[in-house]
Amino acid sequence: MTAREAGRAVAEDARRFFAKSFGGDPTLVVSAAGRVNLIGEHVDYNGGIALPIAIQRRTAVAVRVRDGARVTHINSGGTGGVLRIDHGKLARRRKWTDYPSGVLDQLVGVGINVPGLDVAVASDIPSGSGLSSSAALEVAFDFAVRSALGLDAEPVALALECQRAERQFVGVPCGAMDQLSAACGEQGHAMLMQFAPVQMTPVPFAERVLVVDTATPRSLRASAYSERVAECQTALAAIQRLAPETATLASASLEQVEAAEMPDVPRRRARHVVSECQRVRRVAEALASGAGFPGAEANASHASLRDDYDCSTPELDWIVEHVRPVRGIAGARLTGAGWGGCAIVFGEASALEALTESLPPAYERAIGRAPRTWLVGADDGVRIEA
Ligand code: GLA
Repeated sequence: MTAREAGRAVAEDARRFFAKSFGGDPTLVVSAAGRVNLIGEHVDYNGGIALPIAIQRRTAVAVRVRDGARVTHINSGGTGGVLRIDHGKLARRRKWTDYPSGVLDQLVGVGINVPGLDVAVASDIPSGSGLSSSAALEVAFDFAVRSALGLDAEPVALALECQRAERQFVGVPCGAMDQLSAACGEQGHAMLMQFAPVQMTPVPFAERVLVVDTATPRSLRASAYSERVAECQTALAAIQRLAPETATLASASLEQVEAAEMPDVPRRRARHVVSECQRVRRVAEALASGAGFPGAEANASHASLRDDYDCSTPELDWIVEHVRPVRGIAGARLTGAGWGGCAIVFGEASALEALTESLPPAYERAIGRAPRTWLVGADDGVRIEA
């Protein structure tokens, strides 16, 4: 199945759920992609640079404007019945509808009088695996609603609106990488993203990467993530006492990180952020020159995330250590926030293919959990499905 066909299948599901729940056809079906970050982890909220790809796993949203009360009726294939979101009483409920609710909260907040909507959602992005299913849902929903209402839906502005929804409504102090990737990805390209200010340069990327899900719970992730954001702020404040012109942690030098007065923990966080941006730059240069993904940079990124950022787990470490010696494998690292989620593996197509067979049973013997694996390449971000 090509990427287009896979996207169409999810869009078809959304259309089917729509007909079943509300009768008739939606006005519009929009899909947005999950993402795999090739390199550049925990740098987006520090004003750094990252290199994600949008992947061929998508979330589709079918929408139709309804007359009457300003209430969204929403159904997701994975859940039971139709849920109601009252635009006048938007509140966080700690479930998946918080993402569309957060987007509605943004739209209402800028004075858009969102009418009643019928919405059906379908997705083949595994949730809870760190492949940004939530960002894809926010972006697809926002794009669908804005398009259905004839409002501007410029991808970068829309992604930043979705990031605000996640920060202000869902309550995660995330950077903009996931939403920007879901909105702006380009088939056959990784997106070199700069975050302060936002700027994107597509870099040719025709490889596939192997994604391996650790299948571990990630209950600690939200609190640990917020803690890292705060530690990075502490590190920046310390560097600014030394060099007041430093605007973001990512723009500091390694010399400043070592010279500034701060405790060991924020210093290690800062060391990761600054060195990670240097790795992203080197990888982008290698890819732009037509070379394959430099696996050594992936390995160094993982070591830095494990040792300085403390966001790896024994399961992630097991995967990267297990695959690195395999012939044809270039390198491996954790991807996304860490604390569970997925690892990614770079290398020759045949070697990655072989790992999809050999790795799951070996992981299950060692760890006692069955991991899922996916071979993915770079796909489009958000798009209207015909
Ligand atoms: C999560 C966040 C992103 C980014 C990554 C780590 O996916 O949503 O903004 O910070 O973690 O790189």
